[in-house]
Formats: sequence, structure tokens, C-alpha cells
Amino acid sequence: MNFTFNNVPDIIFRSGSSAELGDLVKARMQRPVLLTDKGLIEAGIISPALDSLKAAGLEVLLFDDVAADPPAARVKEAIEIARTHKADGVIGLGGGSSMDTAKVVAVLMNSNQSLEDIYGMDQVTGVRAPLVLAPTTAGTGSEVTSISVITSEADEKIGIVDNHLYPDMAVLDPLLTLGLPRHVTAATGIDAMVHAIEAYTNIHRKNPVSDTLAREALRLLSTNVVRACETPGDVKAREAMLLGAMLAGQAFANSPVGAVHGMAYPLGGIFHIPHGLSNSLMLEPVLRFNSPKAAHLYAELADVVTPGANGADTERCDAFIKKMVAIVEATGVERRLSQLGISHNDLPRMAEDAMKAERVLRNNPRKVTYDDALAMYHEVL
Ligand SMILES: NC(=O)c1ccc[n+]([C@@H]2O[C@H](COP(=O)([O-])OP(=O)(O)OC[C@H]3O[C@@H](n4cnc5c(N)ncnc54)[C@H](O)[C@@H]3O)[C@@H](O)[C@H]2O)c1
Ligand SMILES: [Fe+2]
Repeated sequence: MNFTFNNVPDIIFRSGSSAELGDLVKARMQRPVLLTDKGLIEAGIISPALDSLKAAGLEVLLFDDVAADPPAARVKEAIEIARTHKADGVIGLGGGSSMDTAKVVAVLMNSNQSLEDIYGMDQVTGVRAPLVLAPTTAGTGSEVTSISVITSEADEKIGIVDNHLYPDMAVLDPLLTLGLPRHVTAATGIDAMVHAIEAYTNIHRKNPVSDTLAREALRLLSTNVVRACETPGDVKAREAMLLGAMLAGQAFANSPVGAVHGMAYPLGGIFHIPHGLSNSLMLEPVLRFNSPKAAHLYAELADVVTPGANGADTERCDAFIKKMVAIVEATGVERRLSQLGISHNDLPRMAEDAMKAERVLRNNPRKVTYDDALAMYHEVL
């Protein structure tokens, strides 16, 4: 056996912890920049954290202009604002978009490297500023990953993967997720399930720690996502979702995602379809496409999501896919590309762009060609 596993050194999971953010971070920073988006300000989620930072005596600057699927230009703006404030630390409070922006600001604000210099794997050379991340969606797991996904000036989703991107501390407060709208709960929860599934089937970096985390993540997420959608104020379901998303994040940070994500990227990059929804649309066709190579692994995951399933690997694999599709349907998310304004004519460009997602496609249990990608997009049109 041969593997490496990295993680965030300091993880705090506690209801109400975001309102204690000042005390939690004050030993690490005095002049932080706090990155978030306007939706979160409107949802009233930021004030308690901001008040606690001020009460702890910190000179905090609020940047609430994070955009979904962070565009490169907006990320550069955030870096400049952090420099002008002479920030000595960075806090990302929000969904994956806010946390991914915060990671990049923390690695570049004191560096000579440009954003484009760090695209790809292990390109960061400078010293990262202190970084604390607090998620408000139960989805990306970005608070525990070494990944940031940015939308380039050519509308392509580009991954930055580097151990410098692990934060110093992750603060998880399930109460922040109580007000998540149903469609965001559903899409981000499905994204987290895809992280667990794709970590489990990675052909290069599958490892026993990620496997253990992925199975427990999928158990928590698959049994709670519909409950969290239907009874949004259910704290137990919200806790399970936030924990599941974090465990899935730890799993895929060390055993990265595959073709569901690769096929989903053009939906976000070109059409700005939310990341979780893009993944949920591509989940079924990719699971079916992968089955000839991954049936034994999907059969193991059937034992997690539909424990009553029995029979040979192929039968349990089929039960697994059916169960995943049933969960996705029960959340009520859109199931077809055409419901989101995508037409037949768009599919070739999407398949071309998907082919550029080699960083993730290479992890997939079955090689995806241009024709395969096109066929899968047709299936869900
Ligand atoms: N870094 C990683 O490891 C990683 C992994 C997966 C995805 N991603 C990236 O993360 C981004 C997606 O992040 P996301 O799915 O968390 O969504 P997001 O951060 O883009 O937020 C989506 C919307 O939900 C709203 N919102 C968030 N939390 C809320 C709350 N508690 N209450 C009310 N509204 C709330 C936001 O205001 C926003 O309008 C994409 O860019 C994706 O590529 C990163
Ligand atoms: Fe994802």
C-alpha cells in the first residue's frame, strides 16, 4: 500500500461558532479581509460573524463582491482590495465561490505571481497569508480542500491545486445553512455526493482513508439531502449534510474527482449553471457510462446507499445508480439541459470544452472521448 493524505490542521464544527469567529481567529490575524457575496449579506448570515470580529478588536475589511464560479477579473479585484487594506489575513465566509476566492487572495496578496501563473497543479511559490474558511453551503467541501476553481477570461473553469491552498482553520457552523433555499440545498448536496462517489472511483489516487471518508460522507448525505430539502429548519439534517460535505471534501482532496465534474464544467463555464446543478445533470449518464469499468466499486457503494440490495456486482451497481437517480429526482432539481436553455447546437462546443478538463478526466475509471462526451450530453438534453 502506498498513499499520502493531507488535511486541514484545525477544524471546528459547532453550532454558533461563526458568531465567535473573532475569538477563534484573533491569534492569527489583526487586519483580515472578509470575502463573501451579496446574497449572504441579504440572508443576514454575515452580520454575527462581522460583529464578533469587530468585538474582538480586529480591523476587518468586508469584500462582498464575490461572484459565483469566480471570474478571474473579480478575483484580481479582491487581491487588490486586500493589498490596499494591508490585510494580514483572509477569511472566506460563504459557499465554494467565496472560499475559493479567499484561497487565491491568501496565496497571491503578498506574492509576485499573477493569477494565471498559479493555474494548474503545484504552481504556487510564495508564502500564503493566514487563511480561515467557513462554509455556508453543505456542498463543495472547499473548507478542507487544496483546490480553488476559477473561471478564466476564456470562460473555462480552471483548477488551482496546491497544498498552499489548505486553510489554517475551517470553522463549520451548521446553523448558517438553515436558510439555504431548497434548490441550493439540493444542488450543493448532490455536488457533495458526487465528490464522495468520484473520490471512491479515482484510478490514480484512491486510498483507504479517502474510501472510508467517502463511504461515511455518502451515507450521511444520501440519507439527509431530501430531509434537508423538505424540512429546511431540521438542525440534525443540516448538521449531517455539513459534516457529510466536509468528509467528502477531505476524501476528494486526496483522491480527486472525475468525469461528472469534467462534463459539468462547460455547463458552469459557458452557461453559468450552478456547479451543483451541473453535476446533478451529468451524474446519471456518467455513472452508466462508467459502469463497465466501475461496477464492482458502485456495487460497494450500493451497500452504503441502499443496504438491502443484493446479487452480483452488476445488479448492485444497477441498484446504486437507480437509488442515486431516485434521490436526485426527489430533491426536485432540473433533469434536462433543455430546461436550462441549452440546445442541440450547443453540444459540440460543450463536448470540446469538456475534453479540456484533462485534470479531472484523467481520474475517471473509463476514458472519455469527444464522441462519448457528445453522446452523454445528448442523453440529458
Ligand atoms: N474548492 C473546491 O474544492 C471546490 C469543490 C467543488 C466546487 N467548487 C466550486 O465552488 C463553487 C460553487 O460553490 P457553492 O455551490 O457552494 O455555491 P456559491 O458559493 O456559488 O453560492 C451559491 C449561491 O448560494 C447563496 N448562498 C450560499 N450560502 C447560503 C446560505 N447559507 N443561505 C442563503 N443563501 C446562500 C449564495 O449567496 C449564492 O447566491 C463553484 O465555483 C465550484 O466550481 C470548489
Ligand atoms: Fe464539485
